[in-house]
Amino acid sequence: MGRIAAWFQERLPIDGAQLREMTNEPVPGHLKRWWFCLGGTPAYLFVVQVVTGVLLSFYYQPSPDTAYQSVHYITHEASFGWYVRSMHQWSATFMVAAVVLHQMRVFFTGAYRKPREINWIVGMFLLLCTVMLGFTGYSLVYEQLSYWGATVGANIADSVPWIGAGLKTMLLGGESYNQYTLSRFFVLHAAVLPALMVVLIIVHIAIVRIQGVTEYEFDEQKASGDKETFSFFPDHLYTELIIGLALMIVLSALATLVPATLGPQADPLTTPEVIKPEWYFYVAFRWLKLFTGTAAVLSMGLIVFAMFLWPFIDKLLRRITRIPTISVWIGIVAVGVLIALTIWEAAVAH
Ligand code: HEM
Repeated sequence: MGRIAAWFQERLPIDGAQLREMTNEPVPGHLKRWWFCLGGTPAYLFVVQVVTGVLLSFYYQPSPDTAYQSVHYITHEASFGWYVRSMHQWSATFMVAAVVLHQMRVFFTGAYRKPREINWIVGMFLLLCTVMLGFTGYSLVYEQLSYWGATVGANIADSVPWIGAGLKTMLLGGESYNQYTLSRFFVLHAAVLPALMVVLIIVHIAIVRIQGVTEYEFDEQKASGDKETFSFFPDHLYTELIIGLALMIVLSALATLVPATLGPQADPLTTPEVIKPEWYFYVAFRWLKLFTGTAAVLSMGLIVFAMFLWPFIDKLLRRITRIPTISVWIGIVAVGVLIALTIWEAAVAH
């Protein structure tokens, strides 16, 4: 063993002790509370998505003539195809939930404030990539709901003033859904967006490492006066691994008990009675139904833009109102509206 290690050491002169020191930065004690280290969960789920996605790509064929049949083959004939497909779907759902929960933790603890504004913006790009992955993935199945979901999505893009028509053409690869649309969605879903996410996750975590996570002092720590820390390796890594294993059990159970289904094949000539997107788009869907086309799209764009700039808006609001907790109150109202619109749409969609 020593000789093998020496062989490698001679060719790759990496110092083990230095490497350990680099990866072993002390982690602040509050990260023992699971909601403070929720950021590791989407990263883990992303890996599950990539592994199951690669397996699905062995069989999936992105064209209107073959897509539905290939998904049917995966679901009913390929060995463990149903399991891989269901894991992919469930981990996508969990990933969106984990990203949103992580963002809420960052928001409500004010962890986006100076000097972490840039990482908040990187996080917003990660959020957009995550929902775009969901949208393009849902559209790949070529069942009625996914076909009409994609069509509605493209029409929403179309109602953006000035650039709408161009956006729609870019998304569909033509003026309407055509034989190139699915391959375009597939390239976005399986190559462009995941590659972008890998880069963004690396940048995001590198910034976390450079800046360190925000330090908080809880009452019991204040009382005892100690600044508790623990080591990244193995303590924090073990916690993340245990969360990963628990998630794997939950995902496997869900994939087995509530496996992915396959609705009727897409029929471009028959609009279904209810067009239903994935649950995380319910809020946007309800918003679009409440307001008219362009007003709804513009107001939604404005909200997303404000979310990007939130660290700066928050600073301004606190200075003007002199209420230090103003963002918490705005956050509570926003989450309330989000939940209410989602439940409202869910009640109609089912
Ligand atoms: C795929 C999506 C994401 C991944 C994998 C990820 C990963 C992480 C990780 C591992 C941390 C370290 C601390 C923790 O675990 O909470 C972190 C911190 C952070 N994340 Fe994310 N994140 C994602 C999305 C987001 C989003 C959507 C936002 C906000 C828009 C965001 C903003 C931040 C900020 C500001 C920090 C620093 C928090 C602090 O200093 O306490 N992240 N992220």
